[in-house]
Amino acid sequence: MSTQSLSTNRLSTQPSSAALSTIPHAAVNDPPAPSRWTAADIPDQFGRTIIVTGANSGLGFQTALELARHGAHVVMTARDEEKGRAAKARIEAERIRGSLELRKLDLADLDDVKRFAADIIADGLAVDVLVNNAGVMMPPRSLTRQGYELQFGVNHLAHFVLTALLIDRLAQSSDGRVVTVSSDLHKRGNIHFDDLVGARNYGRMSFYAQSKFANVLFALELDRRLEAVGLPVRSLLAHPGYSATNLQLSGPTGILKLFMRFGNRFFAQDVAMGALNQLYAATAPAAASGQFIGPDGRGEKSGYPTIVQPVDAASDPDLAKRLWQLSEDLTGVRFNLANPGAAHAL
Ligand SMILES: NC(=O)c1ccc[n+]([C@@H]2O[C@H](COP(=O)([O-])OP(=O)(O)OC[C@H]3O[C@@H](n4cnc5c(N)ncnc54)[C@H](OP(=O)(O)O)[C@@H]3O)[C@@H](O)[C@H]2O)c1
Repeated sequence: MSTQSLSTNRLSTQPSSAALSTIPHAAVNDPPAPSRWTAADIPDQFGRTIIVTGANSGLGFQTALELARHGAHVVMTARDEEKGRAAKARIEAERIRGSLELRKLDLADLDDVKRFAADIIADGLAVDVLVNNAGVMMPPRSLTRQGYELQFGVNHLAHFVLTALLIDRLAQSSDGRVVTVSSDLHKRGNIHFDDLVGARNYGRMSFYAQSKFANVLFALELDRRLEAVGLPVRSLLAHPGYSATNLQLSGPTGILKLFMRFGNRFFAQDVAMGALNQLYAATAPAAASGQFIGPDGRGEKSGYPTIVQPVDAASDPDLAKRLWQLSEDLTGVRFNLANPGAAHAL
C-alpha cells in the first residue's frame, strides 16, 4: 500500500507539552456537550496524525473524511487493500486540507496487528489519536486466526493490543487520545468468562454485546490507569446510535439480514450524524477522558453528540481489571503505562 506522510506528522523529539498539563477526566458534574455540535465545529487538525481502523466503510470512512477535511493526516486502515484504495480515492476526490495514507490491517489476526504497530513505530510516525472503530456484528460463529470468537477478537482484543503497542506514541502527543467505538448494545452484554469462544453457547447478539461491553470496560479502565500514572492521554468512548452502514449487512445472514436492511432504510440515522460522536471524542477540546459520547435523541438512537452513561456493570473496576488481565494473557501483550515504550510481548 502506498505510504504518504507529511514531515509535520513525523515524531518530534521534543518532550510533549501535554506532559506538563492536566488532562481533563470525566466527573459527575461535567457540563453536557454543547448542543447541536456538528462537523463544522471540529477544530483545525493540521499537524495531527489520526489512525482510524476500518476506515474504508461506514463510520470509519466518514470519520476519516471529516478529519481530513479539517487538516489532519489520516492513517486509514483497511483489511482489504482494494476497498481501502477505493475509499481513499473517494476522500481524495473531496475538498480536503489534510492528507491520507492507507495501511493494511486485519484485526482478526493479532500477528497482523503487531506488524501494523511495529511498522508505525519503525516509520517514525507520530500518533495523536487512535480511533478504535472497526467492528463486525452478529456473524455466524467464527474464529480469528488465533482461535478467538470473531467479535470479541476483532472488536475488543485487537484494539486492546493496538492501543497497548501505540500508547507510547500517543503519550508523546500534545493532545493524545484513544477513542473506542462501542454501542448502546453494550447494555445487554457481559463477559462469558467460562465460554469466551462460544463453543458451548454461541449467540450472535449476545457475543456482539459482549464485545461492545468489553469496549466499555477497557476504555474506562484505560482512563483510570492513565490517570493513576499521570500519563497525558485521554481515553474516550463513543457510540453512533443506530446508523445505516454496512455493519448490519456484512455479519447477519438470511432473514436477519433482510430485517436489518429494512431497519437501515426506515429507522437508522445517516452515517454523517452517527460519526459525530466519535469525531467529538477525537477532537473537541472539552471532551474529557472517561467520557462516553453518544446521540442525544430518544433511546440514544439518533441525534447530536452528548455525554451518555454506560450501564453500571460496565463501570465496575473489578470486572474491568479481570478483563484487562485476561486480555493480556490471551494476546501476550502487556500495557506498561508507567513506562509506555516498554509495552511488550509477555
Ligand atoms: N452502525 C451502527 O448502527 C453502529 C451502532 C453501534 C456501534 N457501531 C460500531 O461502529 C463501528 C463501525 O461500524 P460501522 O457501522 O461503520 O460498520 P461498517 O460500515 O461495516 O464498517 C466496519 C469496518 O470495520 C472493518 N472490519 C471488520 N472486520 C475487520 C477485520 N477483521 N479487520 C479489520 N477491519 C475489519 C470493516 O472492513 P470491511 O469493509 O472489509 O468489512 C469496515 O471497514 C463498529 O465498531 C460498530 O460496532 C455501529
